[in-house]
Amino acid sequence: MTAHSDLFRLDDRVAVIVGGSGAIGSAMAEALGEAGAAVSIVGRTAERTEAVAARMRETGAESLAVAADVNNQVDCERMVSETLDKFGRLDIIVNAVGGGAGTALFAAEQYPTSEWDRIVDLNLTTTVHPTQAAVKAMITGKRGGRVLNISSVRGQLGIDAGYSAYVAAKGAINALTRQWATEWAKYGITVNAISPTFVDTPQVATLLQDPVFKAKIVDRIPLKRIGLTQDLVGAVLLFCSDASSFITGQILTIDGGLTATQ
Ligand SMILES: NC(=O)c1ccc[n+]([C@@H]2O[C@H](COP(=O)([O-])OP(=O)(O)OC[C@H]3O[C@@H](n4cnc5c(N)ncnc54)[C@H](OP(=O)(O)O)[C@@H]3O)[C@@H](O)[C@H]2O)c1
Repeated sequence: MTAHSDLFRLDDRVAVIVGGSGAIGSAMAEALGEAGAAVSIVGRTAERTEAVAARMRETGAESLAVAADVNNQVDCERMVSETLDKFGRLDIIVNAVGGGAGTALFAAEQYPTSEWDRIVDLNLTTTVHPTQAAVKAMITGKRGGRVLNISSVRGQLGIDAGYSAYVAAKGAINALTRQWATEWAKYGITVNAISPTFVDTPQVATLLQDPVFKAKIVDRIPLKRIGLTQDLVGAVLLFCSDASSFITGQILTIDGGLTATQ
């Protein structure tokens, strides 16, 4: 009989982590590798993807670096074909590209189109194109699959700080999580999302260095601390494994209780 903890094992599974060279993506890649998955690390900068893949291989995990711009559909198809060539199958895609919210703060009534397009491309297009390519392979593979999107609490909460494009992109990811879950259930593919609030990463390091700003954020969070990349790992193992076989279309906030107070 299978032990309950084995529900989280990923031996023989193959995962693509889009943005696997980033702060959150690399933590997720390492967690999936420890659970037994072979992992493709995807990002535009070859040295960064190779560094994460090499670190994983040192710990005994199978890992492949794929340099690709996932705004480009040809690159997404190549990301999938290189993964299939190396590992023979594809079971999991985690979409961990995005961010940039703090670099594009404008009043909603005059949000510049160029910045709108940049932030929507960075957060939404980078989720859509690689998922389409990966899910085609999952459908062909006939073994089901797992799609995990990284959204943000900003996909569901407004904030008076110029975040229009970011909230629109993350809100669209939440909507697509439910839409894809509905469309792809017939193939045994589940689609879920996690929505963190601030996670202590280089993207938000400058903001968090301001003690007044940090104290204000911590004060709003019932668990009274900033999230860490390790706080996301449990949910990733859940949503990418057999432990979540009957869970799809869900958006899990990982925010120390922030949204519970809204
Ligand atoms: N950090 C937070 O506080 C926080 C909070 C809530 C939600 N999130 C979400 O979590 C996700 C990851 O955030 P993070 O802090 O880990 O970001 P990060 O450290 O900047 O990592 C993003 C990764 O994506 C890659 N990337 C960017 N554009 C790409 C493209 N077009 N094609 C392929 N790869 C691309 C980057 O590598 P290259 O530049 O080499 O391509 C990088 O490895 C984002 O969706 C973000 O919105 C973050």
